[in-house]
Amino acid sequence: MDAMRRAGRVAAATLSRVGAALRPGMTGGELDALVRRDTAERGARPAQLGYHGFPAAVCVSVNDVACHGIPRATEVLAPGDLVSVDVTSELGGWHGDTCATFALEPLGPDAAHLLATAERCRAVGIAVLRDGARLGDVGHACGELARREGCSVVTEVGGHGIGRRMHQPPHVHHVGRRGTGRRLRAGVALTVEPILVLGNDASVVLDDDGWTMRTRAGALSAQFEHTVLVTAEGAEVLTRAP
Ligand code: MF3
Ligand code: CO
Ligand code: CO
Repeated sequence: MDAMRRAGRVAAATLSRVGAALRPGMTGGELDALVRRDTAERGARPAQLGYHGFPAAVCVSVNDVACHGIPRATEVLAPGDLVSVDVTSELGGWHGDTCATFALEPLGPDAAHLLATAERCRAVGIAVLRDGARLGDVGHACGELARREGCSVVTEVGGHGIGRRMHQPPHVHHVGRRGTGRRLRAGVALTVEPILVLGNDASVVLDDDGWTMRTRAGALSAQFEHTVLVTAEGAEVLTRAP
């Protein structure tokens, strides 16, 4: 558990560093270089690099890209962009995984609502965790909040157990029914990482690169992810921003 805390702190620190550096005119390639450098300075390894052949150290998913965007030197960030940055760090054989969506000014009201709702959605998903909670409780909490706020949840990807590997069982759905699904026990580490889309169409399509997942209708999307440890009374967030 202490090794997981250390790995989580590294991922959170690198994500914060990227968030502080983001500005219009930066390229995806520069973000990738920053993540490689910052992760190495912390004695860790960017776990996404080479994962099933993923070609970069970080996922950068802009505007209608829901997740798994490949940072590219040709992609220049512009005012008004919503930039999701997903960092996974491996330290001493253990993993921390965290994502945030940052807004480059100016931020319109719809984008502001989406961002706030996506962050709240992660929070309500984490809030139901404790020893004895069920995976369906997480999905129910996330899905209901999204629906009430005029957003929808991407169902093609979900959270996951995490530890010696970045992705381990169980799969964590961000929609579901309360009181169903596997029961969680104290000591389990997992991620909660709902991807929200403005409006009621969360369907996504895969680009020709085999990674980039875009909303079918071009709608804006946002994602927040924490790695957490289930405890007797709740959950300890391992990737809290420093
Ligand atoms: N960090 C992502 C997650 O939250 C995983 C991305 S896999 C990659 O699960 F290969 F695209 F990096
Ligand atoms: Co994850
Ligand atoms: Co992630």
